[in-house]
Amino acid sequence: MGLSSYLLLLMVAGTAFPRAMADCAWDKDTEFPAPYPPLLFSVAAERTVLPVLDGANRVVKLANGEEVITACPGTTIDALGLEAATATCTSSNKLRINGQDWDLAELGCKSRPKESLQKNLGPCGSGGEMHQIGFAIPGYGFYPTITVCFDPIFETTLYSNYIVRGANIAAQDTNPDRPSFKSDTGFFTVSADTCYQQDSQIALMDAILGDSSVIDVGKSFYFARGHLAADADFVTEQEQDATYYYINAVPQWQSFNNGNWKYLEFSVRDMAAAHGSDIVVWCGGWDVLQLDDVNGNPVDIFLGLTGGEAVIPAPDITWRVVYDPSSNKAAAIVGVNNPYLTAAPSMLCSGGSICDQLTWLHDINYSDYEAGAIYCCTVQNLATAIPNVPDLGSAGLLTS
Ligand SMILES: *[C@@H]1O[C@H](CO)[C@@H](O)[C@H](O)[C@H]1NC(C)=O
Repeated sequence: MGLSSYLLLLMVAGTAFPRAMADCAWDKDTEFPAPYPPLLFSVAAERTVLPVLDGANRVVKLANGEEVITACPGTTIDALGLEAATATCTSSNKLRINGQDWDLAELGCKSRPKESLQKNLGPCGSGGEMHQIGFAIPGYGFYPTITVCFDPIFETTLYSNYIVRGANIAAQDTNPDRPSFKSDTGFFTVSADTCYQQDSQIALMDAILGDSSVIDVGKSFYFARGHLAADADFVTEQEQDATYYYINAVPQWQSFNNGNWKYLEFSVRDMAAAHGSDIVVWCGGWDVLQLDDVNGNPVDIFLGLTGGEAVIPAPDITWRVVYDPSSNKAAAIVGVNNPYLTAAPSMLCSGGSICDQLTWLHDINYSDYEAGAIYCCTVQNLATAIPNVPDLGSAGLLTS
């Protein structure tokens, strides 16, 4: 063995994963500052630099000379006393900031970096107003992670739009600590917290149906805060935590939320990981669920009636469109938000469900209506029934 290959072998053996010479690589679990890592933002790529799975390691990589903004939005990089700083990867796996070299581990945030909202960005969908959840990155601007189209009249979200990072999702953070949902200001005329409480739902059903037995907590028949952009669809803890806004949720029966809808979410992440590329998602609620009162008359279900307002409807269905821009293929999946459904749902798209053509869907039980009846459509077909479904032109069907 020549001396140079011997030295190379030594270098490789000394670290948990091979680092291309001169490039930077940090293990997300052992070489990142804790407990509050900064965001690493690439201005050139207009996105956060995320870990990839490298064997069993979650590794964040930068090329030698590559520039990132290390940012602690809403707080500071403790060692620098700055909210953000531009850093360059050096050949010795350091970050050079204003001529000084730092280990990434030294650049932790003083407290948890915070997402923020950009509101009232213009009209969207059928009577909606656009807002964004994301991070204000000094030296760049606002980096949106979720675009929300919110209906200010019914105080419900028409859709959330975001990206599942297929190349990174398998290396996501898995901190089980979850924040509580935030209302923020300017969206709701009632307390969303109160509306979603189980005892509020029981009192509401007594009042509007004359009977509260539809709420059956033991069977998971109660309205949960149904994430539209799912927390687990994001890679970093900061981006996951930024999903916890009431404007990114609609009332979903828990048996559905934790049933077929959850398996749909799993399927999308697994498909994105298999593609290894960005998958764009739009996810929304549509129409208002009706339940029969004690006299057999259908009643619209608005959780906001708890606060005396016909707002925060429980949607009749929730839909999800997934789009792979690299192949220009897409599919639309609909879930029926009614565990009391007794017959196959009347579909919003014509020609019958095409779920059997979407080979990436897995674990969905199509005959379990308590877990949410599921059917599939082309995006173009569903868009004829739901104006908030995106116009993806002649995109093909995402079958695999
Ligand atoms: C699917 O749901 C039906 C109806 O609840 C149930 O009878 C059946 O056992 C389920 N199938 C599987 C594979 O879990």
